[in-house]
Amino acid sequence: MLTDNYGRRFYYLRLSITDVCNFRCDYCLPDGYQCDHDRDFLSLAEIQRLATAFASLGTEKIRITGGEPSLRKDLPQILESCKSTPGIKKLAITTNGYKLNSQIQDWIDAGLDALNVSIDSLDPRLFQSITGHDKLQEILSGIDKALTLGLTQVKVNTVLMRQYNGADIDTFLNFIKETPVTLRFIELMQTGDNHTFFTEQHVQGSRIKQQLILAGWQPVIKEKSSGPAQEFYHPDYRGKIGLIMPYSKDFCASCNRLRISALGKLHLCLFADQGLSLREHLQSDDQAPLINAISHLLTDKKATHFLQQQLTGATKNLAMLGG
Ligand code: 5AD
Ligand code: SF4
Repeated sequence: MLTDNYGRRFYYLRLSITDVCNFRCDYCLPDGYQCDHDRDFLSLAEIQRLATAFASLGTEKIRITGGEPSLRKDLPQILESCKSTPGIKKLAITTNGYKLNSQIQDWIDAGLDALNVSIDSLDPRLFQSITGHDKLQEILSGIDKALTLGLTQVKVNTVLMRQYNGADIDTFLNFIKETPVTLRFIELMQTGDNHTFFTEQHVQGSRIKQQLILAGWQPVIKEKSSGPAQEFYHPDYRGKIGLIMPYSKDFCASCNRLRISALGKLHLCLFADQGLSLREHLQSDDQAPLINAISHLLTDKKATHFLQQQLTGATKNLAMLGG
């Protein structure tokens, strides 16, 4: 099992398959995707080799991320290949929802177990102003479709932004009254590119937590292997709430994930100083060099990120690495 110097175990891999995104969320890609390097993304064969190596090191869950992963035409094959890797029990995806409605059936057929969709506003006009796309209704239909098709693990990610959705918490709570999804409020994180936006918009998740507790929401008891999100339930609501508070004390203590960029670099942290290339080891089916490289590189994983000190590492925006 992959274990770091601090005793943390890594059973969960976040695998980015493209850094291209067609949305331009204000905190991430406000000017849209800018291509400043070769788009030589991991091939299906390279992805297969990575999945196999991580699975043999104890990884049980893979999340496919982007950019926007559905912009890759071979996404169903990628999903299928990850899911059929011996040892991989759970396959998840994070998407902006652009192709959710039209593709969810294919993803489920390929073995998808869990779906995260980003929705930062439930007001169609505000949604369009944040993302550049008038797609809210279609994305909500896509979520309904996923639930109707029997997907039980559906989450909605909402990045908290003071002037955009900071006053709309009740609208989100209403949404999960009858919709059985986990709505996760994510504290805005500073990245290399969003300094001013961050300073103007950051809201502390602890404020929401207080509101929830006053309104009768109760903490879900955490499993040992669960990651940094804190979850809450309420008897009157079919959905749950999650809070992701990367600036809170001990956030990194329960870190259970590693990340691979679409160019095949291992990122030990979302805010690591650099990605560590594994690509040379992905060119043949010989797994030993790849497994050795991953185990060796992991010894360098730091105890925490340094976001409180405004150190954002190599991460210019999260489209680079899929969050
Ligand atoms: N801070 C917090 N969340 C972010 N995301 C993208 N950029 C940021 C940021 N700077 C979110 C996306 C998506 C998830 C992968 O990360 O909205 O839901
Ligand atoms: Fe928005 Fe995600 Fe695309 Fe960034 S990668 S612009 S957060 S949808």
